Amino acid sequence: MAKKTVADINVKGKKILMRCDFNVPLDDDCNITSDDRIVKALPTIKAILEGGGALILMSHLGRPSGQRDDKLSLTPVARRLSELLGKEVVFADDCISDETKAKAVALSNGDCMLLENLRFHKAETIKDKAAKEDTQLRQAKDDFAKQLAGMADIYVDDAFGTAHRDNASMYTVPMVMEGKPRVIGFLIEKELKFLGDALSDPARPFVAILGGAKVSDKIGVIENLIGKVDRIIIGGAMAYTFLKGRGKSIGRSLCENDFVDKGQALLNQAKEAECEVLLPTDHHVVRKLKSDVPYRTAVGDIDPGYQAVDIGPIASKMYREKIADAKTIVWNGPMGVFETPPFDEGTKDIAMAVAEATDNGAISIVGGGDSAAAVKNLGLEDRISHISTGGGASLEFLEGKKFICLEILDEK
Ligand code: 3PG
Repeated sequence: MAKKTVADINVKGKKILMRCDFNVPLDDDCNITSDDRIVKALPTIKAILEGGGALILMSHLGRPSGQRDDKLSLTPVARRLSELLGKEVVFADDCISDETKAKAVALSNGDCMLLENLRFHKAETIKDKAAKEDTQLRQAKDDFAKQLAGMADIYVDDAFGTAHRDNASMYTVPMVMEGKPRVIGFLIEKELKFLGDALSDPARPFVAILGGAKVSDKIGVIENLIGKVDRIIIGGAMAYTFLKGRGKSIGRSLCENDFVDKGQALLNQAKEAECEVLLPTDHHVVRKLKSDVPYRTAVGDIDPGYQAVDIGPIASKMYREKIADAKTIVWNGPMGVFETPPFDEGTKDIAMAVAEATDNGAISIVGGGDSAAAVKNLGLEDRISHISTGGGASLEFLEGKKFICLEILDEK
């Protein structure tokens, strides 16, 4: 059932508490290095402000240990948001202090306030399972949530990147606001539409491209995609756990030895489901990983003393051909050590192939920091159907997991 959105409610004259995912990357001087998550929250923010609502925004940033950490303050986000909106964003330097609650009361229609990092309070990240088993934790989480909820008439969730968490602001706040409108924002609506349509009604061929270091992180995704997709293209260090299981020599390449058998079981499962799985047949290999270190190309087996750092040209060509006719593409994870050039070549090749397939009519969805960064660095953003703001969240969605924080929100 589709969830109600901000478009389905009247916000005029109301106080709206909206959970965003402003967990943006910062450099050592706390400058925002990508404002993507802020920009993508703007349609919902603007709709509420233009609709005459008074908006209280809340988010986490990083993983502070339940206490104030100035390096993880949301002040830079307030500044950037104010620039993007072209108006003042009031900043509340503690999310539940009396001063903040007074500021919330004083907000007029069309005003916008951002609360300081929710995770400066331990209660924000108490897991619901722990809260169920421990009364004190339950009380702490409920009390924190009630203080946030008490500031508003309406709850809006637009934090797709955090949708796989049961943080107080994501789950307990809407629980305690039962009876008041609790809806999703336009960003979550868009994310659910792209990812949901891809899984439930894909145009075919449906190709999944999975990369990254660990196969253990992607087992659930692979299990859920077998039977749904026509092809799974595998790159990155996770490929070597599969290749070792196939009896290949992988030299010193990263390998999760505990998952070699599971990898083979997945390949067998895919074969039975007639889902084609592609593994790299050649590799760029080095003795020691450094930027611009000389590398060799190994076809098939990798010599002892060498480690694979990127897919090779034969694999790249084969992968590009297998992407070219795709009509639905889901991509998560780089093909090599993307952050250490020139071992970003395979990932760039894939990014280009996905963009070209999209030009030819495919629906493409890119999730995960590195693959999204590859697309952006190459200036291909406009040639991809949807770049997800969720790393972990988009993976859990592809695993077929339910997001309890969304399930409790109002249905149309
Ligand atoms: C993310 O960046 O994946 C989200 O903001 C969630 O952050 P978390 O993994 O610290 O909960």
